[in-house]
Amino acid sequence: MQTLIEHSATYYDEVFAPLDRDHHLERIGGGFETEVYCTDDKRYVVKLKSDLGGDLDAARACIRRIRDTAEQFTRCLGEAHSIPNTYILARDGVGRVQGLVIQPFIRHAHPLGEVDLTTLGPDEREHVAAQLSEIVWRSLAFYRSSGYMPDLYGMISTGHDERARRSRPHTLPRHLWDFVMRRNILRSCNLLLTNSPECRVVLVDYDLVRWNVLIRRIYFAVRWVLGWRDQLLIRRMRRTGVRKGEQ
Ligand SMILES: Nc1ncnc2c1ncn2[C@@H]1O[C@H](COP(=O)(O)OP(=O)(O)O)[C@@H](O)[C@H]1O
Ligand SMILES: [Mg+2]
Repeated sequence: MQTLIEHSATYYDEVFAPLDRDHHLERIGGGFETEVYCTDDKRYVVKLKSDLGGDLDAARACIRRIRDTAEQFTRCLGEAHSIPNTYILARDGVGRVQGLVIQPFIRHAHPLGEVDLTTLGPDEREHVAAQLSEIVWRSLAFYRSSGYMPDLYGMISTGHDERARRSRPHTLPRHLWDFVMRRNILRSCNLLLTNSPECRVVLVDYDLVRWNVLIRRIYFAVRWVLGWRDQLLIRRMRRTGVRKGEQ
C-alpha cells in the first residue's frame, strides 16, 4: 500500500518521524529501487525502499544486509570515493517497519552522466579520468575476490509507477540492450561529480542486486567485461573529453 501523499515536491510519510517534525520531506530523486528525499536543512539525504518494509525482524535483517554490503563497497572504493551511510528503522503509517538510509547530501554535484566533460579544463579532466580509472580497477579487483562489485551505472526513475512498468517481463529485451549498449561509467547516475575545482567522484548507491544466484553470476560476469570496456572509454575521455560516437 502506498503511504506517500504528494504535496508539491514534498511528501508526507510517518516513517520520516525520527527525522522531521511534520513528517514531510522533499523528494530529490529516485533510482531503480529507492526514493531519495532530503532533510529541510539540506544536509542529509534519506533513502527509502518501501518495497522492503515488513515486521521488525524482517526489517532489521534487511537493513543489516544493506549495511554489510555498503561497508564492503566502501572498503572496495576507499574513503575518497565513498560516503558514510547511517541506518534507522522506523514505522510507517500502515504499521510496517522500514529501513531508512541516511547519507550526507552531496551538494554542488551532478550525476556523472549529466556532466558535459568537454567543459572541464585539461587538468580537471585528467583528475576525473584518474579517479574513474581507479574506481573501475578497484571494482574489478573486488569482483575477483568476492564475485560481485558495486553498481557504477544505475538508473533513474520518476517513482514507483515507472519502476513497476519497467519490471514487466516484456521490457526485458530492451533493458538488456540498454544495459550492454547504452549504459557505461561515463553515463553513470550512481557516481556524482562535485563541481570544479574539487571534481571529486563519489559513489552514492551501495545496493547489491537482489536476484537469484545464477542470474547474479551472469550479471556480474557481464559487468566485469563492461568494466574493461569502461577503462577504454575513460582512456578516450582523458584525451578528448567525449565518449566514442558522440563527437
Ligand atoms: N547522497 C546524495 N547526495 C546527493 N544526491 C544523491 C545522493 N544519493 C542519491 N542522490 C541522487 O538520487 C539518485 C538516486 O539515488 P540512488 O541511491 O542511486 O537510488 P537507487 O538505489 O534507486 O538507484 C542519484 O542518481 C542521485 O542523483
Ligand atoms: Mg542508483
